[in-house]
Amino acid sequence: MSMGHEEHKLDAGFWRATIVMGVISALGMWGVVIFPIQNYVPEAAGIAVQIDWLFKFMAFFSVPILVYVNGYMLYFTVRYRNRKGQPIDEPGSSIHDHKALEFWWTAIPSALMLVLGILSYLLIPTYYTAASAKTNSVTIEAIGHQFSWAFRYPGLRDPVPDELHLPINVPVTIDVTSTDVIHSFWVPAFRMKQDMIPGMVVPMTFTPTEIGKYEIVCTEFCGVGHSGMRDRFVYVQSQNDFDAWYAGEKTKQAHQPTEVTAAVLASGDAAAGQALFQSHCTTCHNAAPFDQRKVGPGLANLFNDPAHPELLSGKPPTPADVAEILEHGLTGSYGQMPNEQMNGISAKDIADLVAYLKTLK
Ligand code: CUA
Repeated sequence: MSMGHEEHKLDAGFWRATIVMGVISALGMWGVVIFPIQNYVPEAAGIAVQIDWLFKFMAFFSVPILVYVNGYMLYFTVRYRNRKGQPIDEPGSSIHDHKALEFWWTAIPSALMLVLGILSYLLIPTYYTAASAKTNSVTIEAIGHQFSWAFRYPGLRDPVPDELHLPINVPVTIDVTSTDVIHSFWVPAFRMKQDMIPGMVVPMTFTPTEIGKYEIVCTEFCGVGHSGMRDRFVYVQSQNDFDAWYAGEKTKQAHQPTEVTAAVLASGDAAAGQALFQSHCTTCHNAAPFDQRKVGPGLANLFNDPAHPELLSGKPPTPADVAEILEHGLTGSYGQMPNEQMNGISAKDIADLVAYLKTLK
């Protein structure tokens, strides 16, 4: 349709701009190919190498799309701008269809999306296949809590809080779940991330390939202590080191009491309790007077503050009362205090915590 204004064909300037963008794209694509991702985040599992390859494949073809879409936008804006002397309300230049261009800028990105989809479809399911199908594999449960991690190993009585130990080059399945809300278990060095969903167990399979210490991060906003669910680590160890750690953990657990008896409570160690308080309690509780609440109340002076509400029986709380709450949890006006399983603490830990709380004045 002619509005009486000037009509343009794509001219030499257009093809010059196209060539310049081609050069910029080629440089960008070369940059993607040589960029050493593993220098910034180690590739500590077999799957990490493949995930990085897939990422580079996507980034490689994203470069020309980015450059050409934005480059043409810029070029057309300048080339067909309203020039001096033209009336401000004159319709812009009319450029007629270019059937060949339209075909290719539709066909190439479509094919690319399809290939990317197929590659992801082939790769991603490989890490949801249980490693137990393979010989010489290990299965470990990873349980998300507000706000800590617990790892259960075959043959260990108690879960191990906040530390995941793995032997190198042994296929492992992590059964991922949660006891409270949705968390997300992410080990960047393994390039694996999985939502931890209450009531659902999702197996993640991979083989650690590099000895080292790698961060575990929660990547689902799971409550006020979400940001505290990092700075916890996976330790990939030689088989010997792993066996030694496992044996040590087993011995340690065998010597730990299973019930909080009066004798266990009396043996509490305040220094150990303080460390536990820092790692397990400070997300929800201040070591400060009662009214300095976080999620739950401040816990200083718990046993002898007349302002502190009576906890259970209408009388001031005793160490046994507090141990009872740590063991079984409590649902009160402040919300819910999780029990010992959910907090990943043992009978000995409870005794230590009570001993520490007694020292808080
Ligand atoms: Cu757990 Cu965020």
